[in-house]
Amino acid sequence: MANTLELGVNIDHIATIRQARFTPYPDILEAITIIEDAGADTITLHLREDRRHIQDADVYAVRKHLRRRMNLEMAATDEMVAIARDVVPEDVCLVPEKREELTTEGGLDIVNQFERIQQVTQTLSDANINVSLFIEPDIEQIKRVPEIGAPKIELHTGTYANATGEAKHAEFKRIVAASEFAASLGIQVNAGHGLDYENTHEIAAIPQLKELNIGHSMIARAIFVGIEQATKEMLDILKKAP
Ligand code: PXP
Repeated sequence: MANTLELGVNIDHIATIRQARFTPYPDILEAITIIEDAGADTITLHLREDRRHIQDADVYAVRKHLRRRMNLEMAATDEMVAIARDVVPEDVCLVPEKREELTTEGGLDIVNQFERIQQVTQTLSDANINVSLFIEPDIEQIKRVPEIGAPKIELHTGTYANATGEAKHAEFKRIVAASEFAASLGIQVNAGHGLDYENTHEIAAIPQLKELNIGHSMIARAIFVGIEQATKEMLDILKKAP
């Protein structure tokens, strides 16, 4: 069966460049228009507690501007829940967050934070938002997803992306097993973090995956070829997946 894998483009690092100098450029809305025209399915943005890239005003402006789906990544805090309920993105992806981290490090621990994540998932679902949980490719975590009530998960591929040799192969096998298990429970399975123009081929070939969320490597590629071409090249990799 053909894989209808969708691409979510994470635009955080366009805002990172803007926030480095507090300039009005590069304009993330202009970038979204080009990314959508190039064929991406979803625009992903992460409103971090420290506002290091995406700002509150960006979230509202993006909501008004985009034509495809919006996937808001956020921590499960009261502040973020209030913003999400006001903006009503199609999807919210709940992620763990540490102020000192360079980027999201690892998945949410929904086993140990079960009650909080269940409560936030319920609140967001009541506001007609699809909740996705960013978790490790770990069977024990996935077992708790139906009880939490989230229709989607995003498997953390960062460990796979950073590993080499046998460790990379082992982590790939974990992602395959997690995808199969989650799909067997009727959960939509997405994946993301650390995916680039080299490693996405292998991940995209996992038949249960529905959407990949990719940011840093694409914005970096756009420096050389532009964001339209960078988007098309990644879409090409997804389309060529068996
Ligand atoms: N998915 C999630 C949940 C993330 O937190 C991030 C980073 O913000 C990404 C995907 C994109 O990761 P990368 O920028 O490494 O492609």
